[in-house]
Amino acid sequence: MQESEITTSQTPLYIILLGPPGAGKGTQARLLAEALNIPQLSSGDLFRENLREGTELGLLAKSYMEKGELVPDDVTVRMVMERLSRPDCEEGAILDGFPRTLTQAVTLDEALAHQGRKISVVLLIQVSDEEVIRRLSGRWVCQNCGAVYHTIFNPPREPGRCDQCGGPLYQREDDRPDTVRNRLLVYYKQTAPLVGYYFAHGLLVEINGEQDVGAVQADLLAAIGNKDDHP
Ligand code: AP5
Repeated sequence: MQESEITTSQTPLYIILLGPPGAGKGTQARLLAEALNIPQLSSGDLFRENLREGTELGLLAKSYMEKGELVPDDVTVRMVMERLSRPDCEEGAILDGFPRTLTQAVTLDEALAHQGRKISVVLLIQVSDEEVIRRLSGRWVCQNCGAVYHTIFNPPREPGRCDQCGGPLYQREDDRPDTVRNRLLVYYKQTAPLVGYYFAHGLLVEINGEQDVGAVQADLLAAIGNKDDHP
């Protein structure tokens, strides 16, 4: 494939959402997936799905997730690449929570390049540590469809019930305060170096995540539009 063919507006959109735990990556990824009609690919959701189904991968991931540590690169990369190779990702995907280490980022670049594709844009959703703690301590998630709520910022119409599918809401085990603190440390140590990596590749756009959900979404869509205009 020639370079001109992969940089037109028909180019598949591979968008990475980067940011600390609780920045709003999942909330925004769902909205972007709807707006752009490409799937959301969340590594955390894939692990939680495996956990619910009691697979070997789920059991392995559990021991890391409950401590707020990252699951080892080899298993994570294999799981995400398998998902990314499915037909619904041919037109692009919103990558939510992946990559999270330099090894994952380089592997993703190489895998996409192998298919004549590349990352379109990396959107860094910035929020302070205090906001992360506020958001995660009030987060509730639907057990059936994964919709995300917050007791104060985005409460469900009926407490404990999902507005979208009526399913029961639960609090994630890794949202306990001590685990959240470790997830933040892990973010600064292992994931924050990706900011420099993608900046150096000219792909990074910073977004102020401390606005309401609609304003963050508008900024994300504008950043994607700008990148699309100037590939
Ligand atoms: P993962 O599930 O990816 O968790 P995370 O990155 O820590 O992110 P979160 O899901 O906690 O937060 P979010 O940014 O999606 O925020 P949300 O939209 O929910 O990973 C979990 C674990 O899996 C990891 O710790 C690791 O063990 C493992 N893992 C996953 N990927 C891996 C990888 N690549 N490599 C290795 N291991 C991996 O929003 C949070 C709350 O805030 C919600 O209540 C929401 O309603 C509210 N909110 C959102 N936006 C706003 C806003 N603008 N204003 C007010 N409130 C808001």
